[in-house]
Amino acid sequence: MTDRYAVVGNPVAHSLSPRIHTAFALETSQAIEYTRMLAPLDAFKPALLKFRDDGGRGVNVTLPFKYQAWQFVDAHARGALEASAVNTIHFHDGKSTGYNTDGVGLVTDLQKNLDFAIYGKRVLVMGAGGASYGVMYPLLTARPQTLVVANRTFEKAQGLVRHFERYKDLAREGISARRYGELAGTEFDLVINATSAGLTDQMPSLPDNIFARDALAYDMVYGKETPFMRFSAAHRIRTTDGLGMLVEQAAESFWLWRAVRPQTAPVIAALRSHA
Ligand code: ATR
Repeated sequence: MTDRYAVVGNPVAHSLSPRIHTAFALETSQAIEYTRMLAPLDAFKPALLKFRDDGGRGVNVTLPFKYQAWQFVDAHARGALEASAVNTIHFHDGKSTGYNTDGVGLVTDLQKNLDFAIYGKRVLVMGAGGASYGVMYPLLTARPQTLVVANRTFEKAQGLVRHFERYKDLAREGISARRYGELAGTEFDLVINATSAGLTDQMPSLPDNIFARDALAYDMVYGKETPFMRFSAAHRIRTTDGLGMLVEQAAESFWLWRAVRPQTAPVIAALRSHA
């Protein structure tokens, strides 16, 4: 029987995951079926249990269920535990294991596709919501010089930094929380926008001179140009969206389920050309 997988979310109609995983399966000759599953907002767990009982082998989890998925699984892989969010579930031997591949997807996109080494770099993460929690641990394991988290609601940035306190030594000069206004005069080699501001055509109030020479500006949003992308491009800074991260996190999920690594570059190129 064909192994079944799905992306579960609400809404989920917009998800590119079925296209990505179907392309991976074709390329690696894996016989899988990958569909979208709309779970009612108040019934994530029953939807998941039904999918599993019908023979489902794994799911990707998207908004707003990543925390519920974290609560649901029997065991957490390293990275998922720290992130307090699960975006990949593997059903096996009557149990479920939860992973978070978002951060690995970001780091792989940066280091492999964009040829940007995080090691020894000054990194700024904007935002202190779920998207930031998901990427902190993998970013730290790439050993930056500093990792600064800035957020409009400063207390949330402080909470996030406290949450990852025990990993602070992975960054040579540690991790810290700032207000946007406090960033003036500090330069970063990598600025990551993990806020949802771009979705409403807004951006955090960044001071002008935060980009170091040869800096990279990374927006996790894909499928639209955000004010942050325009801001960094106007400063003549190399700028990218989050499409590569999306495909790389999917590849990591595929690997966890199938023990086969798909090629990602052709899929990223195909999605860009059909944008
Ligand atoms: P997600 O799970 O996608 O991270 P979230 O938990 O709602 O979503 O977090 C959204 C993040 O975007 C928060 O850090 C939020 O800042 P606040 O904590 O101050 O709300 C940030 N954000 C959203 N709109 C923003 C804006 N216009 N300017 C700056 N930050 C914004």
